[in-house]
Amino acid sequence: MAVERTLMLIKPDAVKKGVEGEIIAHVQKQGFKLVALKKLQLTKQQAEKFYYVHRERPFFDELTTFMSSGPIVAMVWEGENAIARIREIMGATNPEEAEEGTLRKLYGTNIGENAVHGSDSKESADYEIPFFFSGLELVG
Ligand code: RTP
Ligand code: MG
Repeated sequence: MAVERTLMLIKPDAVKKGVEGEIIAHVQKQGFKLVALKKLQLTKQQAEKFYYVHRERPFFDELTTFMSSGPIVAMVWEGENAIARIREIMGATNPEEAEEGTLRKLYGTNIGENAVHGSDSKESADYEIPFFFSGLELVG
């Protein structure tokens, strides 16, 4: 186990529902430290760059249109094994299949509009954190 940093996004559906505070509190209560936070709206082109790994997937256009459809909240969380543990707290991609008490079960809308994003590996976190934040904005 090691102390890791991971990127999390509150997606446009959850921001529209006004549950940013609940989501932040939920992660904080699990013992993670918030090291960066901002609200912004991505352009379609920026969303395509962020989700570049999915460019060949059938849902790529739908995903990037959704992710640029309204404001999001970007955060960096720090803690022991943060990457895998925050994925657990988020739950399965499809909120209908997510376990009770997970963020996607609580706040997700459907498989596409599923409330939150979390880095899925160290490699993803190393791409995704600097995508949103400069070193000066990461306060450990
Ligand atoms: P994320 O990257 O957002 O944390 O989600 P994830 O790892 O659980 O899922 P991933 O396979 O990486 O898919 C990225 C996002 O694409 C949307 N999606 N739509 N319509 C569909 O069948 C479909 N499948 C995936 C979701 O917003 C998913 O979170
Ligand atoms: Mg993913």
